[in-house]
Amino acid sequence: MWELVQETVNYIKNKTNFTPEYGVILGSGLGSFTDDIKVEFTLPYHEIPNFPVSTVEGHKGALVFGSIGDKKVVAMQGRFHYYEGYSMQEVTFPVRVMKYIGVTKLIVSNASGGVNPNYRVGSIAIISDHINMMPEHPLRGKNDSRFGPRFVNMSEPYSLKMIEKIKEIAKASNIEVHDGVYLGLQGPTFETLHEYKMVKVLGADCVGMSTVPEVIVARHMELETFGISVITDIGSEEHLESITHEEVLKAAQEAEPKVRHLIKELILQY
Ligand code: HPA
Repeated sequence: MWELVQETVNYIKNKTNFTPEYGVILGSGLGSFTDDIKVEFTLPYHEIPNFPVSTVEGHKGALVFGSIGDKKVVAMQGRFHYYEGYSMQEVTFPVRVMKYIGVTKLIVSNASGGVNPNYRVGSIAIISDHINMMPEHPLRGKNDSRFGPRFVNMSEPYSLKMIEKIKEIAKASNIEVHDGVYLGLQGPTFETLHEYKMVKVLGADCVGMSTVPEVIVARHMELETFGISVITDIGSEEHLESITHEEVLKAAQEAEPKVRHLIKELILQY
């Protein structure tokens, strides 16, 4: 894995000497965040050695390098999900690459189903913690200590300082945000009524199919990590509304201007 990562990093460094401080993983329907970036350079995934290629509708596949004010960022337009059939090592490979092209702070966004009764479709949750219920762990196997330690401290997976900053920004911008514990399941099915109930009983506020592996690998390498989730459907009703991927994308797109604003300001001000 180390050699593969270094090979990819060398390829990227030969293409551009741009050194991003922030990595941003753009989730469902949030891809237009790249409009806020003064783009210097775009690399489609299929051109990057060792990169998997995204298969889900609504996910473009490219690394976008550029600036937001005086901050340098690299954004992943499109991410890899375990349910697509990728291994956990493939899902998290881009995070490892980001680290070695210079990223020290990772911002992850996603769409999720809400089980907190205070949530509505379109609510924005600042992820305060996660519960990993994915069937495989991205750090399973022999540990390479060049990346990080065998046993990773997960006492603060989501940076408290970044959470504090975004709450300040949200308040000043009159954007309502909630705290949320995110539970990661493999998908690709949306949850049954009783699976949503289980998510709630387990102490989570929302449930989705991404983010957890990337954050674990980011913390393995001591990246400072921040997560934000758009609630695209509600699983806490007695009677579940049926839900489609198109509805998830639509709800995510409606919340997009607010999420874009919050993330842009976080990058500028943090
Ligand atoms: N469950 C899992 N993943 C999701 C959901 C959901 O309800 N909504 C968006 N992504």
